[in-house]
Amino acid sequence: MPDARGPRKEDSVTARLWGGRFRGEPDPQIAAFTTSLPFDQRLYRADILGSIAHATMLGRSGIIAPDEAGRIVQGLREILGEVDAGLLKIEGAEDIHTFVESALRTRIGDAARRLHTARSRNDQVATDLRFYLKGEIVKIVGRTLALQQVLLALAEAHSSVIIPGYTHLQRAQPVLLSHHLLAYVWMLHRDVGRFRDAFARTDALPLGAAALAGTSYPIDPQLVADLLGFSSLCENSLDATADRDFAVEFVSAAATLMVHLSRLAGEIVLWATAEFGFVELLDAVAAGSSIMPQKKNPDAAELVRGKAGRVMGDLVTLLSILRGLPLAYNSDLQEDKEAVFDAVDSTNASLQAMGLILHGIRINTEAIAARLRGGFMGATEIADDLARRGMPFRDAHELVGRIVLYAQEQGRELWELTPDEYREFSPLLDASVVEATTPAGAVARKRSHGGTAPERVQEQVQAVRGALTENLSWLASLPAVPVEREAAAPGVQPGGRAPGR
Ligand code: ARG
Repeated sequence: MPDARGPRKEDSVTARLWGGRFRGEPDPQIAAFTTSLPFDQRLYRADILGSIAHATMLGRSGIIAPDEAGRIVQGLREILGEVDAGLLKIEGAEDIHTFVESALRTRIGDAARRLHTARSRNDQVATDLRFYLKGEIVKIVGRTLALQQVLLALAEAHSSVIIPGYTHLQRAQPVLLSHHLLAYVWMLHRDVGRFRDAFARTDALPLGAAALAGTSYPIDPQLVADLLGFSSLCENSLDATADRDFAVEFVSAAATLMVHLSRLAGEIVLWATAEFGFVELLDAVAAGSSIMPQKKNPDAAELVRGKAGRVMGDLVTLLSILRGLPLAYNSDLQEDKEAVFDAVDSTNASLQAMGLILHGIRINTEAIAARLRGGFMGATEIADDLARRGMPFRDAHELVGRIVLYAQEQGRELWELTPDEYREFSPLLDASVVEATTPAGAVARKRSHGGTAPERVQEQVQAVRGALTENLSWLASLPAVPVEREAAAPGVQPGGRAPGR
């Protein structure tokens, strides 16, 4: 009988978890082409904690001997500690899963060969990515809430500043600066909602799906879910290993957030021009030119705007990988990670940069006040008064157009015309129209729900505070991850009882 055992090939320099049915070594170029270790090493914590939970479950379910499970868990804990401390370098393997298993083998020997019982890298990588992403979503939500607070503080510090509101980038009607800033706070509020939705659907455990079909071992996936802090189990093993729509949802939420940040960044770039001059950036968040000594450029804000394009690209990358892909796992899915990681990095960096940019921004109230003149932004108020007093709005619109032309020819503001001049245009107009055409007068009248009148904006501030508090308490309510505590605290018996069971 031929000896089917032969030498163990996975002990070669570039660790592999397969090789028995292969006669030759992989082509080095192909090995370099197919490796994911350069980027998936970012998942090391998720991978090790996932393996600790899996080994604990194998031991408690009697699938492997409790003492072997104990050695595996202890070895994994040590590996995690050493990687964290920079003592163990992640290298020399096909991917992070292979690396962890071979590091474990080096450390504890043959018991390590039982870790992969009842699982596959296919359910493992899906678990790692979900676990990692849940943590990243929590961090991004925290940073988004912090940015909302910066915007809110800026709004409150300038609660009486009136700016021109624009449509078509032409001056339209005056609004409170705080109203303008709060518009971004609401966008970010919906972004947080999208991240929370993505979190809820990411929060399902794929481990136990094995390669694609499930497993014949009497596993206890609920125990693994409890240890890793997943609130539910994936219901279909093919779906569990093949689906990445949780990642699509996350990157989609990130892309939407980034588009919002890019609009804010774009306005800061515009407002920081000499032509606008509405704001001045702190030197610390601006940059000079290598040739033009006079320049002060808003580089950081421009980069936030630019990075939005990257994250949009990440979303297209992910969707393109999934499009038409047959079930279940395919190596195409390995390409999901860099898109997700890039979205995570770009979004985190942009949220932090935006906070710094806004933190020290100077609002130039004189330049803003100068732009409240010459735009005839009170014109709609006159038309509204005429319409309220019986004139059809279309006729009022026409008449006010002539009033604007008159004021323009005279080089005067609408609020500089006299009540008598207004009465000559129409007996329906009285002295009150003069005040109504001033920026403060026009703003004060916008008392509709969500309008820019100071009392409505004050209500918004209260509503925003309530929304912030609710999101902060969601963050605080997230359950701890038991396996993280166990990994930190030595002496837990994998053969013992699960917490809370
Ligand atoms: N490195 C792989 C990935 O990132 C892990 C799963 C590999 N599974 C497999 N059957 N080759 O997707």
